[in-house]
Amino acid sequence: MSDTEPHSLRSDDAASLAADSSSDEHSTSTSSSVDGSNTDPSSADRLPGPRGLPLIGSTLSIARDPIAFLESARKYGDIVSYGAYGTEFALVYDPHVVEAVLVSRSDEFDKGEFETEFGELIAPDGIAFTEGERWRRQRTLLQSSFTPDRIHAVADEMVAEADALVDGWDDGDIVSLRDGLATYSVRVLARTLFDLPLEDDRTRTVTRAATAVNEYASPRRLAVGSLIPSWVPDRVGREYETAMAGLEELVTELVTERRRTDTTGDDLLSVLARAEYPDGSRLSPDEIRDQLVTFLFAGHETTSTTLAVACWLLAGNPNLREKLESELETVCDNRDPAVGDLASLEYTEAVLREAMRLYPPVTGVYREPLTDAVLAGYRISADTTLQLSAYGIHRDERWWDDPEAFHPERWLADTDRPEYAYFPFGGGPRHCLGMRFAMVELQLALASIVSRVEFGRLTETLEPSLGVTLDPGPLEARVRKR
Ligand code: HEM
Repeated sequence: MSDTEPHSLRSDDAASLAADSSSDEHSTSTSSSVDGSNTDPSSADRLPGPRGLPLIGSTLSIARDPIAFLESARKYGDIVSYGAYGTEFALVYDPHVVEAVLVSRSDEFDKGEFETEFGELIAPDGIAFTEGERWRRQRTLLQSSFTPDRIHAVADEMVAEADALVDGWDDGDIVSLRDGLATYSVRVLARTLFDLPLEDDRTRTVTRAATAVNEYASPRRLAVGSLIPSWVPDRVGREYETAMAGLEELVTELVTERRRTDTTGDDLLSVLARAEYPDGSRLSPDEIRDQLVTFLFAGHETTSTTLAVACWLLAGNPNLREKLESELETVCDNRDPAVGDLASLEYTEAVLREAMRLYPPVTGVYREPLTDAVLAGYRISADTTLQLSAYGIHRDERWWDDPEAFHPERWLADTDRPEYAYFPFGGGPRHCLGMRFAMVELQLALASIVSRVEFGRLTETLEPSLGVTLDPGPLEARVRKR
């Protein structure tokens, strides 16, 4: 399968989906206005979708291949019901409903039990999982660390790290783009969140924790874990406990140290160690730990996957790569890219946007209605988890010409499509707090890498699976220094 072909179902998935679909329920609804507007729940239609197997619903299909499940479920309609891990889900493929849930009717929804339980596993007090007033206080406090000035202050380090990554490769080396860029993004986070020098042993504690969090919380592991007894040894769980204990110790030590030395550092840990709530109280080391774990979790694989996929897509499209090189030569003129270049790096940005359209690192955003709600004419009960499918909507031919093709040029033309036909960073009040940080990092890193090195594809087809974020696989490539 190439990056321009649709992902097809493998035969075992198809068989399992057939079993899942054994008692499909197709709605006869024609009343959907597809605008997410509210009507009376009692008169609205029930959702279509695969009913799945007794008790476990579609858990097996998801454990086997979550992406194939996402792709096959859309044949049921724009909102599709299924059950898995003991939860009722409604998969949303309609950008107007996404807008309603995330933006115009956002006060009718919260993150819900599915996300909260997931948050309990890694960082219950982290900003990505709290609600209400508590979340608002945290968002205000943390937003002050992500102002353009603060982000620009670390931009040179983002470039220096990208240069160091490329310097570590020799001409002809075979590398995994996924693993190389994962190392890159975690180093940028260790620097910007903790201000730790890279040679410091404590940086290894941070990188170990970032890797362990992402492995521990992957949906495949959660799905499989829900089916096997608790006495079965859990290697990933044990590694997670050890890595988190190490991180906790490190955060406590660093908070004490930075409070004692009254640091003026710009890294997130120093900002949080200094921060005070309006009543003058300070954050406890536990609260600081939860925020840092959340940022390691939210900012690591999302960024590295986008970069790895962009490099791989360019490696298979020499004409597009040449176009990008020509922009870099014109704008940067043989020097490293810098913050002042960002506005002129339009094609670089288009390549990254297109990579996130085809392979959104966060494939779906989850919400739960606070009370029974109606969306696009369908009744959604309060205990249903809405799964807003970025992966599905980003490849929908109603909104995208030739949706499976890698075509960065589409971002340089004005096109009329619903705003939420594209939402890699979510939307509304809880949109990605690190979006600006991520876009600066992505543009500078890609510009720096492409100016210094070319890749020859060894992995010919990208077959994504689903970890906590979309996993593109190792993406092996041969390095050619420029
Ligand atoms: C390509 C890179 C990234 C992508 C695609 C991405 C995507 C997302 C998405 C879709 C959400 C919304 C989740 C929801 O509404 O349930 C989100 C939230 C968040 N992201 Fe990112 N993210 C990226 C990079 C980053 C980085 C680099 C950081 C920080 C260093 C970060 C920090 C956060 C935080 C803290 C939240 C929670 C915000 C809140 O609930 O108020 N993200 N991200």
